[in-house]
Amino acid sequence: MPTRDKSFIESSIVLISMSESSSAVVKDGHSPETLSFREYRPTDSQRFVEIMASAWPKLARSIHVASVEWYVGSATWKETACVSDRAVGVLFGKIDSDITSLGRLRIFLTHLTVYLKSLFGLYGRLPHRLTFIKRGISSERKIAINSPEVDGEITFFAVDTAYRRKGIGKALMGRFIDHAKKKGARRIFVYTTDPGSDWAFYERYGFRKHNSFQDSFMSFAWKEEVTAIIYILDVE
Ligand SMILES: CC(C)(COP(=O)(O)OP(=O)(O)OC[C@H]1O[C@@H](n2cnc3c(N)ncnc32)[C@H](O)[C@@H]1OP(=O)(O)O)[C@@H](O)C(=O)NCCC(=O)NCCS
Repeated sequence: MPTRDKSFIESSIVLISMSESSSAVVKDGHSPETLSFREYRPTDSQRFVEIMASAWPKLARSIHVASVEWYVGSATWKETACVSDRAVGVLFGKIDSDITSLGRLRIFLTHLTVYLKSLFGLYGRLPHRLTFIKRGISSERKIAINSPEVDGEITFFAVDTAYRRKGIGKALMGRFIDHAKKKGARRIFVYTTDPGSDWAFYERYGFRKHNSFQDSFMSFAWKEEVTAIIYILDVE
């Protein structure tokens, strides 16, 4: 049974039209700006680092750069939302049935590369590098242990602060869910944190809380106690 709240899905007063690849968004009552969706391009990475830095300002820039590389190398769905050709939002995800053996190897190599680059200081100044890596690996394992059986995952989701609450996040999510359904996925999960992330969006969208645990990596990076939350959505 679908868990998405229908009134939420249908209530957008901002998105005024939507086709396969584009829609229009009204910005603060002024003239409409065109919102379009396209696949990620390597030139988007710099913008994503900026979007991440505004969403998670307490994290070091080196973490944003490493995270973007991590997400780019491990997603099978990589979509960018643009307003007048400028990237303003991103949703990356993974659908299990999209991952080939080669893809699995690519993901493994990406993770290894990010850890090695962190170890050798290639992302810039990163205090306590070894602790950073150890906690990163431990958090990855904890997420895997605490995750339910699923067919997919949302890995990276953020909208530029200047473009929030205009329906862009909802549109990005809807497009990913549609893709997940087409690929036969029945359940997807997302890892998020409190504090630090707008996890309430997921609850509004119909995700339900599956699990939560103390997040050693994010607590270290965020410099305060952070709880990891695993949400799931039945997409059938
Ligand atoms: C979460 C996020 C991607 C949502 O993007 P968005 O484009 O602002 O979302 P939408 O405009 O499509 O939101 C639609 C509805 O979701 C709900 N919503 C959006 N952000 C919310 C938030 N922070 N808290 C609670 N509900 C929220 C609202 O009900 C909103 O509708 P309304 O404001 O018109 O009533 C954006 O807030 C963001 O980038 N946050 C920082 C990064 C982050 O937390 N990512 C997700 C967790 S990892």
